[in-house]
Amino acid sequence: MHARPLRRLSALALCALMLFTMNTAALAADAAQRRREAFLEQLSDLPHYRAELDERYLCYLDSEDYTAEQVLRLVNVNADRSAYGEHEETDVSKGVLMLVNKQNFLGRYKPKDLVSLGACGSWGSMAREARDAFVSLVQGASAEGYRIWGVSPYRSYDLQEYLYESYVSAHGQDEADTYSARPGWSEHQTGLAVDVAVRGESYGDFEGTSECEWMKAHAHEYGFILRYGEGVEYLTGYMYEPWHYRYVGVEAATYIYENDLTFEEYYYYYVVGDESPESPAAAE
Ligand code: DAL
Ligand code: ZN
Repeated sequence: MHARPLRRLSALALCALMLFTMNTAALAADAAQRRREAFLEQLSDLPHYRAELDERYLCYLDSEDYTAEQVLRLVNVNADRSAYGEHEETDVSKGVLMLVNKQNFLGRYKPKDLVSLGACGSWGSMAREARDAFVSLVQGASAEGYRIWGVSPYRSYDLQEYLYESYVSAHGQDEADTYSARPGWSEHQTGLAVDVAVRGESYGDFEGTSECEWMKAHAHEYGFILRYGEGVEYLTGYMYEPWHYRYVGVEAATYIYENDLTFEEYYYYYVVGDESPESPAAAE
């Protein structure tokens, strides 16, 4: 064959190949766009969807770790932001509804109204409103035959620093971060949290006791919530802690309990967000 027709043929083949490649790339781009749209449509059908967070939701497109609903929940509460990195200062003006977690930093805050737990715990104090509610809870439990008491209430920045450093020395920082807050990042420092146990026993043995079940079913009646629930570690930032309770007041605690929310969700939707919770009574 002559050289010229051969060259013409190769030029044609090259053109065809280019067209094919461009077409394939366009088809792939179309498919990716359709997947993004389908994902956002799926999210937009869920409660609490916020269109302005689309770009952040889309970072979890095709995630093997989270369902669409989990993606929505975690982005809504800023749990997609890195722990101890980009963060807010805790807004302590929210009082019993202040949020402290790995994205909300409390610093050196100290409550002004610490009151001793007295006979309701092994040591220490809590902020007055939380302490009074805890005393009522312990008495209410006792009247039904359950022996609850506080084993770790308010912890200062310095005490938290000491505890955290001992955990890091014993287990390494990555593991310590799953169950202990860093100093300045602990809810215990608000005076609104308390670790509980069966009186005379260790908090580590609390799970599986009838007191543990009583707390799960009744703590909200006194204004307390189980703060680090099972299966929501990706929202709260900590492993399940059956002993750690947080005072938020009866209204918020009841709503959180009845709607199976984390405090993060309650805070971002109803405390600083513009959604309004239906009253628990109205929801019935
Ligand atoms: N154990 C909880 C997360 C704390 O250290 O505050
Ligand atoms: Zn605790």
